[in-house]
Amino acid sequence: MRRLGHLVADTVAQHLSTLREQPAYATLNRPDAMRLIDRRAPAQGTDFEALLATLRDDVFPHAAREPHPGFIAYVPSCPTFPAVLGDWLATGFNFFAGVWPVAAGPNEIELVVLDWFRQWLGMPESAGGLLTSGGSGANLTAMIAARHRATAGDASIIAKLTVYASDQVHSSVTRAAWLAGVPREHVRSLPSDDEFRLRVDTLQDAIARDRALGLTPLMVVASAGTTNTGSVDPMHEIAELCADEDVWMHVDAAYGGFAVLTESGRRALGGIERADSVTLDPHKWLFVPFECGCLLVRDPHRLKAAFQIFPEYLADVQSGHEAVNFADYGEQLTRYSRAVKVWMSVRYFGTDAIRDAIDRGMALARRLEQRVRETPGLEIVSPARFGIVCFRARPAHVDPADLDALNERVLARVVGEGRYFISSTRLRGAFSLRACILGFRTAEEDIDGLVRAVADAAHDLHGAGSAHPTRVAT
Ligand SMILES: Cc1ncc(COP(=O)(O)O)c(C=O)c1O
Repeated sequence: MRRLGHLVADTVAQHLSTLREQPAYATLNRPDAMRLIDRRAPAQGTDFEALLATLRDDVFPHAAREPHPGFIAYVPSCPTFPAVLGDWLATGFNFFAGVWPVAAGPNEIELVVLDWFRQWLGMPESAGGLLTSGGSGANLTAMIAARHRATAGDASIIAKLTVYASDQVHSSVTRAAWLAGVPREHVRSLPSDDEFRLRVDTLQDAIARDRALGLTPLMVVASAGTTNTGSVDPMHEIAELCADEDVWMHVDAAYGGFAVLTESGRRALGGIERADSVTLDPHKWLFVPFECGCLLVRDPHRLKAAFQIFPEYLADVQSGHEAVNFADYGEQLTRYSRAVKVWMSVRYFGTDAIRDAIDRGMALARRLEQRVRETPGLEIVSPARFGIVCFRARPAHVDPADLDALNERVLARVVGEGRYFISSTRLRGAFSLRACILGFRTAEEDIDGLVRAVADAAHDLHGAGSAHPTRVAT
């Protein structure tokens, strides 16, 4: 075991310490991938070292490198090494963190971690919840709990339920509403304001309209760091409205939540503590590996009311008054102890170091915005908010109708070069390049290099004969 474990540790350490020499992104089409791997489940075993070599040399290279300094697409996940080892400890010991008695120690760690998060957000001491597979799982869990409260066991109400969020809300919220049985046409996607935030006046009107139709408003979802632009919905105003209307206020802070550790993040997230429930995603800005989401609920009994069930074969593990069966708070019975990796990383580094890493990501996003503004032929589509910047090539004299196609080609060129992996989105219908800077390996030189790469690609693809050079101004 020790020898094989050392081989794996060496393989991971070698990978992580040579990331800069590797491409940020690599992939394969399905037919080529099918040829890559022997597809039989063999009757006889195979030497571990040979299997490790197959994975390391033939399989793993065909994937994006999430912790790469140039991985600034989607929402990156850049785990600390202690967090990776914490995950390995949890799986090595294979704790069953679904019920209290069989994993009391690790479950206490989960309660400790949840209480850190609660304190960071400023939620009341009575709040609680659980770690989940990710933000999607957390959003779904909240939606189910809210549905249980709204219907009070009367299934006929489900067809009348409505959910409200801005047109910038993450797709997992929409899907959570669908899965909870909310009719698809009742999931209100409200037009956001100039800064991509939910408008409270529009929200109020939508709720009033639905009540007049005899519908039952179930939940308002405020985004605390939208995936597109990092915008934060006005949480105090939404909290007031939800209190007046007696509607569950959920905050999807999967992307932005841990920015609360920083000065500027705390200011931006003011009001989050008033929510009925909050989704966080430690596998994003808390630097732990996949999978780790979190749901905190102001009144955790609402989770229990929705999820707790007493099968006879679990009678001997019913939690006592003070103990917590996490299986009572969500859909998973068998679950591993995600808390170990969170605890290991936060205890190892301390919150000061984590706050500095988050602050650094936000400073790099501001640098990116500035570099784009300084570079002829590039423009900002949405400025730096948290770690996200949307921008695009806009060479002088280009026909506006050609901008989307040009930027699609710029994206393909830059990603194809391998050094930077950025992604795209559409804002108000316009195709935009999108960078989300989160990883602690990303440096200023990466930001400057990315802007140069985009400007050069735009220059080459728009035609070298363009009268306006698009070389970066740095
Ligand atoms: C704002 C937001 N909410 C929810 C999610 C879904 O989280 P997960 O992918 O961890 O399920 C994401 C993922 O990027 C997100 O950015």
